Amino acid sequence: MAGFLKNILGNKNDKFLGVDIGSSSIKVVQLSMQKGVVTLDTFGEIALGPYGGKEIGHSVKLDPPQLTEALNDLMKESQADARVAGLSIPLKSSLVFNMKMPEVDEKQLDEMVRLEARRYIPVPISEVSLDWSVIPGDEHNEDEFADMDENDEERNFINVLVVAIHKDTLSKYKEVADSANLELQFLEIETFSTIRSVIDHDKDAVVVLDIGASVTKLYIVEYGVIQKSHIIGVGSQNMIKALETKRRLSTVQKDLNLEQGNALSDAMEKSQTTPVDLDRILNETKKVVLDYQKEHRKNIDLAILTGGGSVLAGILPYVETALQTEIELAHPFAKTRTPAFLENTLRDAGPEFSVAIGLALRGLSG
Ligand SMILES: Nc1ncnc2c1ncn2[C@@H]1O[C@H](COP(=O)(O)OP(=O)(O)OP(=O)(O)O)[C@@H](O)[C@H]1O
Ligand SMILES: [Mg+2]
Repeated sequence: MAGFLKNILGNKNDKFLGVDIGSSSIKVVQLSMQKGVVTLDTFGEIALGPYGGKEIGHSVKLDPPQLTEALNDLMKESQADARVAGLSIPLKSSLVFNMKMPEVDEKQLDEMVRLEARRYIPVPISEVSLDWSVIPGDEHNEDEFADMDENDEERNFINVLVVAIHKDTLSKYKEVADSANLELQFLEIETFSTIRSVIDHDKDAVVVLDIGASVTKLYIVEYGVIQKSHIIGVGSQNMIKALETKRRLSTVQKDLNLEQGNALSDAMEKSQTTPVDLDRILNETKKVVLDYQKEHRKNIDLAILTGGGSVLAGILPYVETALQTEIELAHPFAKTRTPAFLENTLRDAGPEFSVAIGLALRGLSG
């Protein structure tokens, strides 16, 4: 009876596990709804390197059975007991793009999007799972249309965000969830999880920079939805590797990473140079942001940094100077109720858990 009622009331989960399988580590976050408040139950991270013969902190390619083993170990360690879960899919395993489409009814739009999307997708359309949504926004921007004729065709076009994921990728993640005895409620591209946990619904355009181990992901978000996503083929692993060769640092333990962080700021201060890889990330970011600003005729005044690479010491002031925008370090745990004594720990760990928290937030909201 209770289960039945729960179903008609929207089948909300009392507790939910967000699972982010990154290239260097798996992160889990379990949230529960307690008296109407989203509460942090537990969270944890496990490095994947050792499951594939590599060091902690390094990215590694693993098969579903190895990923399952790591996930099981992590759930045990973090004492996560929720069985209902959401998993993220790496942006690099998917295709996300925008298309301009005529304003027609939804059914017709669906057909047109599927047809048009073939031009963007390099594999047979039958091999991918496709989803799309209309990007709200500019239609009320009088400025933009000020110099257009009333009947100008542009007026009747809308922007559509299309997401395509290879079916093999979907089955790989389903397999991991199944073998870890999790009831998979949804799979979501990491982009959407991140923006849910790191930004408040806001009309202003912001750029989110997720510096992961293997790659950096850049998202431009406006009106609370993603307007553009972009992958930069450099991650914090490259920066640390560059430092390793220079300074022969060990990368073995997480707490050693803090030392690497200090080493980064040391190296930056002493040699007056910066890791080339960070410059590459920032130059590409500047370009994408400038293009966006030009195309949409508006400014982006805030950059939010997330991902393990964003906690490298010395990185924030450097990024601020380079991008000439206000910078914020993501604090995704702020969207949950947490014990006060964990405040500092959660602030420090936060940027690594943005994806997992975003997944869990979606799971709890229905
Ligand atoms: N406290 C820290 N100080 C310095 N570096 C850190 C710290 N914590 C994590 N890192 C670095 O951040 C990286 C991991 O970041 P993250 O967990 O965001 O990557 P990922 O999600 O596994 O990778 P990707 O998103 O590219 O798939 C590691 O390479 C690690 O060296
Ligand atoms: Mg990541």
